[in-house]
Amino acid sequence: MKALVLSGGSGTRLRPFSYSMPKQLIPIANKPVLQHVLENIRDLGVTEIGVIVGGGAEQIEAAVGDGSGLGVRITYIPQENPTGLAACVSLARPFLGNDDFVMYLGDNMLPDGVGEIAAQFAADRPAAQVVVHKVADPTAFGVAELDAEGRVTRLVEKPKEPRSDLALIGVYFFTPAIHEAVASIEPSARGELEITDAIQWLLTHGADVRASQYEGYWKDTGRVDDVLACNRKLLDDVKPDVVGEVDATSVITGQVVVEAGARVVRSTIEGPAIIGAGTLVEDSRVGPYTSIGKDCVLRGTHMDESIALDGATVTEVRGLHGSVIGRSATVGQAAQHRLVVGDHTSVEVAAA
Ligand code: TTP
Repeated sequence: MKALVLSGGSGTRLRPFSYSMPKQLIPIANKPVLQHVLENIRDLGVTEIGVIVGGGAEQIEAAVGDGSGLGVRITYIPQENPTGLAACVSLARPFLGNDDFVMYLGDNMLPDGVGEIAAQFAADRPAAQVVVHKVADPTAFGVAELDAEGRVTRLVEKPKEPRSDLALIGVYFFTPAIHEAVASIEPSARGELEITDAIQWLLTHGADVRASQYEGYWKDTGRVDDVLACNRKLLDDVKPDVVGEVDATSVITGQVVVEAGARVVRSTIEGPAIIGAGTLVEDSRVGPYTSIGKDCVLRGTHMDESIALDGATVTEVRGLHGSVIGRSATVGQAAQHRLVVGDHTSVEVAAA
C-alpha cells in the first residue's frame, strides 16, 4: 500500500499564518502537523508516500526532505491550484499506479492512529473505506449513512437534516477502483473535484464502500482555535525532559520539556509545556499548555495555553492567553495599545 498526503490547499481559515507558510507546517507540541501525519502513516507500515504540495512547497521540502529522517520515501507532486481532493488523486495517478493507497489530509490530526482500520481495509479490500467520527454538528461535514454491516448507503455533503452523526474525516482508503470514479465526475458548484462525489459515484455504480469509526481524538487543524485545542491535547501526553539550562531560582512543575540550548532564568514553567531549543525564558511565567518554538526570547512575560513559533520575541507582556505568535514576530509593551496588524489578523485586547 502507498500513501497520498494532501499538503497543498489555500488555508484561508488559517490566515495570517497561511500567507507565509503552508498550514501543514504549523507546529503542534513543537512538531509540524505534517510530521505528525507522516509518522502516523509510517506506523501503518507504509513507506512510499506521495505528498501533494502547492504554494510554499519549498518550505515543506526543507522541513521533511526526502523522508529518510522519518524512515519513509517521499515523492513530491506539485499542484498548481487547489482544485479539490479528487483532483489530487488524479494528479497523483502516475505515482499511485495500480496500488491500493491511504489518502490522508495533511492538516488532520488523529494521534490515536488508524492501525486497526488499515488492517480491516487490507483484509477486505472494499473499493473504498472511509473513516468516520461522531461529531456534535454533522451539518458542517460530509456525512455517511450506513447499513447494519457498516456499509455506506449514502454520502450527504453538509446535510440540513442529518440522518447520522458520522462525519467523514481526513483519512480514506482506496483500491485503484477510485481512479475511474475520479475520471467520471464533474467539478462541484464551488469548482472543485470533490472526493465525496467520487465515492458517491462508486456507490451509485454498485461498488463496496465501507466506513470505520475512529473513536480516538481527531482534529482538523484548519483554524487557530483548533490548533490551540490540539496543542493542549498533545501536551497532555508530553514526557518531561529537561536538557537545557534551568537556573537555581527558576521553578519547574508538571510535565515540562526544556530542549537543548534553551535557558530558563528566574522564571516559572508550569507544565505541560515545551521550551524549544535555543530559547531564552527570563523573569517570566510560562504554561500550562504552552509550546514555545526554537530560538525565541520571552522576557518579563506571562503566557499560558499559547503557541510561539520559532524566533518569536515577547517582552514585558503579562496575561497572554490562547495566543499564537508567528515566526520571528515581536510582541512588546508600550504605554498605550499600538498595533501593527497584518491582513485577516485577529487581535483581542483585554478590558482595562
Ligand atoms: P481544506 O482544508 O478543505 O482546504 P484549504 O486548504 O483550501 O483550506 P481553507 O478552507 O482554510 O481555505 O483541505 C484539506 C487538506 O487538503 C489540506 O491539507 C489542504 C489539502 N488540499 C490540497 O492539497 N489540494 C487541494 O486542491 C485542496 C482543496 C486541499
